Formats: sequence, structure tokens, C-alpha cells
Amino acid sequence: MSKVLIHGGANLVGKVQVSGAKNAALPILAAVTMLDGKSVLSNIPRLTDITTMVRMLRTLGIKAEHAGHTVKITNKGNCKHLIPYELVTKMRASFFISGPILARTGFVKIPMPGGCAIGSRPVDIHLKGFAALGANIEVEHGFIDIKAKKLKGNKVRLAFPSVGATENILMAATLAEGDTRIENAAREPEIEDLANFLNKAGAKIKGIGSEVLEIKGVASLKGVEHAVIPDRIEAGTLLLAGAITNGDITLSGINELHLFSLLEKMREIGIKIDIQGNEAHVVRNGPLQPVSIETLPYPGFPTDMQAQIMALLCIVPGRSEIRETIFENRFMHTQELNRMGAHIKVKDNLAVVEGVEKLSGAPVKTTDLRAGAALWLAGLVAEGDTLIYDIEHIERGYDDLQGKLISLGASIRKA
Ligand code: EPZ
Repeated sequence: MSKVLIHGGANLVGKVQVSGAKNAALPILAAVTMLDGKSVLSNIPRLTDITTMVRMLRTLGIKAEHAGHTVKITNKGNCKHLIPYELVTKMRASFFISGPILARTGFVKIPMPGGCAIGSRPVDIHLKGFAALGANIEVEHGFIDIKAKKLKGNKVRLAFPSVGATENILMAATLAEGDTRIENAAREPEIEDLANFLNKAGAKIKGIGSEVLEIKGVASLKGVEHAVIPDRIEAGTLLLAGAITNGDITLSGINELHLFSLLEKMREIGIKIDIQGNEAHVVRNGPLQPVSIETLPYPGFPTDMQAQIMALLCIVPGRSEIRETIFENRFMHTQELNRMGAHIKVKDNLAVVEGVEKLSGAPVKTTDLRAGAALWLAGLVAEGDTLIYDIEHIERGYDDLQGKLISLGASIRKA
């Protein structure tokens, strides 16, 4: 497993372009299995989860050319329906392929996705949605067999606004017979991007961006061109890199609306963020203040930014509190941050951070994607060197984070 060495202390300065959103590109790549003919997807981030999803498409018999930030798809409608075990266990988001394949072929055989470092991550809400659309579901030998001669539109109320379940059921419903109403749907911007992409392809989806999605089933969808939205989590991570190093950076290619709750919290801490169009300029604005944060479904504070903002709060004088309400085990980064000199105490889903003067570089382990990002941020400001193990987690979810940070003056090298 590979490592990076970060020498802390540089104030990051300069300008960097935000890449396309991983969590928009993944469901959109799954959705192309339902579209006839050619599709061209651009602003696709270069990261290993994307290469895994492209591999998935090829395994299913779909032609996919992946060059730079573009994926060209040719779908002749002959896609297979057995989803390979090694791809689903490698990336939970592979489960997003089940809705489209079910809608397209009437049958999908997919391995139960394993849990991961941040929790058990069941798929019960996905399966209840497919059953509501008339699918028959059987689980045996670690695989889920989902069958439906023809999906029938229906009313589906999600027990929790699950992002993946909303996306999976939305995709399946676009080719069902009749109307579907999804209530308590998740409202993340990546779901809006998926819905806009599907409507471009001929789907009939209303209520986009709200917690009630209305879908009129259609007989077929056709290939389209689409550029995915900017990655709000990468943008937030880079904004925090500027803040934690007391730097002066500008991000281009952001969407302010998607960052609202993060920007609000960063400003409450005392960070000055100016937005001009699709650019964000961040500098510190005097002493930093401790805050309380609770992660919530969009538009609340994003769980995917919880670890990163905790890294900043480690050096903010006073007592900050972070309550994680989305995942049951998303504090794996706290013990690693404490090894760098932070003072964080965790009880159940509450982390209490007592700010310290400084962090000190140490060897630390990456447990999951966003925990890893938090360790990179801590390494940028820590005294001395931080050796970060298992950076494959970072390479899954960030498009050249190392290159972007080095372009802003960070001292990082592969170790
Ligand atoms: C998506 O995961 C994102 N991944 C995650 O980002 C993100 O953290 C998460 O949404 C929440 O915003 C992608 O979009 C590829 P959920 P997803 O279904 O869809 C429970 C990252 O860092 N749940 O909204 O898997 C689940 O256990 C990744 O980029 C059920 O109980 O998340 C969790 O506690 C990490 N049953 C909560 O809901 C279900 O059927 C939220 O999960 C589905 C989910």
C-alpha cells in the first residue's frame, strides 16, 4: 500500500480548478446502461472509483472509451445482468448499477455489498423500492437476485433519505410502466445532476431537487452528451486546506449553492470566503472560534466534510463539538489525529475537540476516503513530517489531490 510524506508549515497560496463530482459521475455512469446508442460524459474526475465503474460497464458488455476527463459510451442494448463480486466488494457504489440493469433487462444478480470502514451500509431501502416497483427479490449464497418482467410505477416512501437508494429507485422508475412517486427522497446536488442527465436522455422526472420526485415511465432512453457538476466535497476540502494553513487561495469551477452549509460553518469559525461567480477566495479573518456541527442530509452540513473540518477544529482554541448522524462509525480519523497531538474525545456519535496550539507530524494510517483527507489537512499544518499510509483510499475519491496541493505550495511527495 503506498504512502505520502507531507512536510507541514507552508501557507498555501494560488489558484486551482475544482474537478468534476465523483458522486455525480458514478450514478451517471451506471445510468448509461439504460441509454441506447452513444453517450459522451465530460468533466469526469480521474480517480480509481471511476476506473472501477468503467471496468464494470465493459464487464457488462458496454463499449466504454475512457480518456482524460471524458468517457465515451456505445450501448447496443446487449448488456449482461450478472454483476461481478470483485467489483461490488471493491466499490459500494457499484450497487448503483442494479436499478438500471433491472429496468433494462428485467433481471439483475448482484453480490450483497459488504460494509466498509464507516459502517454496515445496508441496502434495505434500495430493495424495498425495487419491490414496490413490482420486482421479486431473493437473497442466496451472498447474491441478490432481482427479477421483474416489467417494472410498474408506484408510490415509494424512503425510510431515510438515502442518496444511493434515491438514485437507484429513480433510475429504475424511468423505464417502468406508469407513474412513480418517491417521497422522502434525498436532495443532494449529485441526484439533481443525475435527474437532469436522465431528462436529457428522454426521461420524465419532476420535482428535481425536492424531497418528492415524480417520474413518468418511458419506453426507452437515448444517448446524450453531459458534463457532470463540480465536486463540492473536493472544493470544501481545498477551501479547508487554504484555511488550515493560513493561506490565501482561490478555487475556480465551484457552485456556491452546493457549498452553502459548509461556507456558513467556515465563516462562523472565522474564515473569510468571498464568492465571485464560480470562484471562491479563502483567507483567515482574525482569530478562529470553536463551533458545534451536526451532519445532516443535504442541504444540511455534509457528512463527507465531517472529518476534514474536524482537522481544522483541532487547532481552533476552545471546545468544538461534532455530531455524526448519518453513519454509525465515521470517527476513525480521530485516533490518528490524536496521534498527531490533537485532543479529541468520542462518545457514541459525538466528538468533542479541545483545540491545541499545534499538531505534530507522525506516521498515520488512512482508514477511509474522507478520514484520509483529514490527515492530509492535518499534515499540511503539523510541525515536521507526517507519513500517511494507504493513500489508495485518497486516490479512489480525489482527482490528483497531491498535484493540486503542490501547485498551491504544499510540500508533499510519494514515500
Ligand atoms: C452516498 O453514499 C455517497 N457515495 C457517500 O459518499 C455519502 O457519504 C453518502 O451518500 C451520504 O451522503 C456516493 O454517492 C457514491 P446513503 P450512500 O445511502 O448512497 C443508511 C464519499 O465519501 N442506509 O445516503 O451509500 C446507511 O447505512 C462517500 O464520497 C440504510 O440503512 O449513502 C447510512 O447510515 C462516502 N439502508 C445512511 O443510510 C439503505 O438501503 C446514509 O447512506 C441505504 C442506506
